[in-house]
Amino acid sequence: MAHFFEGESHTFSEYLLVPGYSSHENVPQGVSLKTPLVKFRRGEHSALTMNIPLTSAVMQAVSGPRLAIALAQEGGISFIYQSQAPEQEAKMVREVKSYKAGFVVSDSTLTPSMTLADVLELRNRTGHSTMPVTEDGSAHGLFCGIVTSRDYRVSRDDPSKRVCEFMTPAQQCITAQEGTTLKAANDIIWDHKLNQLPIVDGEGRLVSLVFRKDYDSHKSLPNELLDEHKSYIVGAGINTRDYAERVPLLVEAGADVLCIDSSEGFSEWEKLTLDWIREHYGNTVKVGAGNIVDAEGFRYLAEAGADFVKVGIGGGSICITREQKGIGRGQASALIDVCRARDEYFEEAGVYVPVCSDGGIVYDYHMTLALAMGADFLMLGRYFARFDESPTRRLNVNGSYVKEYWGEGSARARNWARYDLGGDKRLSFVEGVDSYVPYAGPLKENVEGSLTKVRSTMCNCGALDLCELREKAKITLVSATSLVEGGAHDVILKESDSSTNFRS
Ligand code: IMP
Repeated sequence: MAHFFEGESHTFSEYLLVPGYSSHENVPQGVSLKTPLVKFRRGEHSALTMNIPLTSAVMQAVSGPRLAIALAQEGGISFIYQSQAPEQEAKMVREVKSYKAGFVVSDSTLTPSMTLADVLELRNRTGHSTMPVTEDGSAHGLFCGIVTSRDYRVSRDDPSKRVCEFMTPAQQCITAQEGTTLKAANDIIWDHKLNQLPIVDGEGRLVSLVFRKDYDSHKSLPNELLDEHKSYIVGAGINTRDYAERVPLLVEAGADVLCIDSSEGFSEWEKLTLDWIREHYGNTVKVGAGNIVDAEGFRYLAEAGADFVKVGIGGGSICITREQKGIGRGQASALIDVCRARDEYFEEAGVYVPVCSDGGIVYDYHMTLALAMGADFLMLGRYFARFDESPTRRLNVNGSYVKEYWGEGSARARNWARYDLGGDKRLSFVEGVDSYVPYAGPLKENVEGSLTKVRSTMCNCGALDLCELREKAKITLVSATSLVEGGAHDVILKESDSSTNFRS
């Protein structure tokens, strides 16, 4: 007879934090959100630490190079998606590693023969109003000119007008040579009252653009996460099928940490993948594994050599695994059990294996709850998909801006390697949906806003760092009726009051 699983299956929204004593020291400016990313022995430090406990999901609609750079600038890490050719994924990793702060490689480049309609479509999709023009439309093609919103008037110009007719041609642009420092580029920008400066190589090919606004904002990145060569830290997803081909390319491209992207991690496939990496790279390559939802799954992956373990099955916003297969577990209960198992394993083996809570974060306070329940860091998909920097299109649907967001298990992503049952694609079926999420603007502002709330709640719990939060937090289950009490109730809301929408 099947046995009854003893653990519970609660979700984040069923819990609240009971405030503890806070002293005069408990002010948000004094709170540190530093957290370990990979395992370490008792008395030692993690080889990789994040300045904020946020990672972005291994998903096509979330973790491309642009978001990876923006998140590393705030102190977190993206895992570039693995549901693409290994060479293409490695190229994205390289793009992040070779990014020089302030030097932007354009992802919206035009060709001279494109039309004004193309320009407007691209502007709408990416939000960029400045677009370089190259001979072949590639980011490093022969530089032909630049288009900004000053070069056309939508109300007057014919949409079929060609870019070469209204761009500012290269001969009239002030450019700088490859190798120019950011400081020198900035001086040119100021001296000539420019908004952007194209950087070109000796053959006239576009290398990057320097924007006036980026130089100013670069000074305010106190949390940015850099390696010893001053490149941004970036992670990359792998799967349990083509690792022998994919891992070497990602390592060569400079990925700082890998993560096995699998919906169900308590499997021999994961162990085989970890074994292969250890055999070929020892401990020099860091790799997380998952997803699991109980202590048994955690121990299996910890003993198999995972550098961190990811928790969560069926709780993702685009996920229909529970409906399709009837497997999974409430994210909060899964996390609590796994974190307990991590602490026991640390006691016993003297090795601390960080735990990542993956999926199901809807409100900012869910972040604090997950951290209080013991998560070392979080992985979020929907949250990041809403930002300018995510790789998807921004669309206007019924008068509101939205971004597209689809699951890795959806028909659109076709990420069958994530659902490993031996690699036979004929046995696969969809476990995710294709959806829209409300557009929310730039990553920086949103992350700052969410973490201000996390810091503030930590102060109410008397905690100045994440270890202290775990020790001091008092977590309580709430009844269904007290959930109603928790929102605005028994008042008639004014239509203009949008402050009651706390979903992030
Ligand atoms: P979210 O932050 O709630 O949107 O959840 C994101 C997480 O959902 C990812 O990190 C994955 O673990 C998981 N996920 C991604 N795509 C799918 C899918 O198609 N089906 C089920 N889970 C998915």
